[in-house]
Amino acid sequence: MKCKLFSASLALALAATTGAAQAQKAEVVHWWTSSSESAAVREIANAFQKAGGVWVDQAVAGGSAARAVTINRIAGGSPPAAAQFNTSKQYRELIAEGMLSNVDAVALKEGWEQLLPRPVLDSIRVDGHYYATPVNIHNPGWFWYSKAALQKAGVTAEPRDIDEFFAALDKLKAAGLIPIAVGSQGWQESLTFNALLVNIAGKDSYLKFYQAHDPSVVDSAPFKRTLQAMRKLRGYVDAGSPGRNWNDGTALLINGKAGYQIMGDWAKGEFANARQLPGKDYGCFSGFTPTTPYVIGGDVFVFPKTGNAQMAKTQQLLASVIVKPATQIAFNNKKGSIPVRMDTDPAQFDICAQAGIAALKDRTRHLPVSDMLMTPDMLGSVTDVISQFWNSNMSIEAASRALRNALKS
Ligand code: GAL
Repeated sequence: MKCKLFSASLALALAATTGAAQAQKAEVVHWWTSSSESAAVREIANAFQKAGGVWVDQAVAGGSAARAVTINRIAGGSPPAAAQFNTSKQYRELIAEGMLSNVDAVALKEGWEQLLPRPVLDSIRVDGHYYATPVNIHNPGWFWYSKAALQKAGVTAEPRDIDEFFAALDKLKAAGLIPIAVGSQGWQESLTFNALLVNIAGKDSYLKFYQAHDPSVVDSAPFKRTLQAMRKLRGYVDAGSPGRNWNDGTALLINGKAGYQIMGDWAKGEFANARQLPGKDYGCFSGFTPTTPYVIGGDVFVFPKTGNAQMAKTQQLLASVIVKPATQIAFNNKKGSIPVRMDTDPAQFDICAQAGIAALKDRTRHLPVSDMLMTPDMLGSVTDVISQFWNSNMSIEAASRALRNALKS
């Protein structure tokens, strides 16, 4: 009996060693460096390790820095196994240059076409091939508020339009609190502008601008109202705003020093990490009305070609593990995002994610994130104008002119 047990455990140990020898190390570049982001990406790493992979973490702070590392490594001939990009056009050039492996086999086997929402499919599928694995869905334009701060300021209801929003910010200001925690960095400024555009001007204006690149929309009354609101919003930020990281902004809400933050639902990861609960400690809404468009963005991993057949198998394993129901639930609960799988049971998530999942069911509310609609170059020009507008006394007329020019870039 003793002998039997010994040989069984020896066999298991041997099998494990053989498995480990076969599993290749997968270096994964990403920009998930805040506490909640690190905790979330560990869920993917653990699931991958359980499936026999070996995860080698390469976290690089900041989205544009991380993407630059990946592109430089591909160009330099030492590509990572996988790399994070946004659900966007950011990796189209890599596809065009033949640098990325497709994951068609995994996509077909797991039925991505039926599982994933249209805007996500449109981003990852190019010329009929799947070049990225989606990880999550983030809406970059959620509104978050600290219940303690709002209570102190006497704000009792969520705003139903921009005027009510500014009225709440006035009360927070009068109470000596930071009305809105804005982090003045280019990407955060454009995220703020987009949230205002969706809420004030709506879907048509957003699509005319980002999708049709129609310069006439910039002169329309709703677009002008958006720029005016952006200008007005600047009167509610604190001296610590320039350069502030998004998670430091969320921390101001967590400790009750600031009332509001406009930020993607990755902010929720930070609340969760601080053991705060939606509905109790903080509130969330993705728009002023129940029919406000729901902006769909998020993250994907791409798989650079390495010329190594075993690595290609490892990449397919990672692609498959990421979309598995259990990984999706574990990762997205920590990340603050909602799952890419339309068949996920909402009961596995908190009330903010449930609101996101419900919004996603209504296709008329879907709106792709701006970087799915514009090339990185054009988007860069638009972001520069918005940033300049936010950080100077540039007039609405000058900003409109510069935005019309950016649409020609
Ligand atoms: C976004 C990304 C999110 C989030 C955020 C802040 O680009 O989609 O997953 O982590 O950056 O790091």
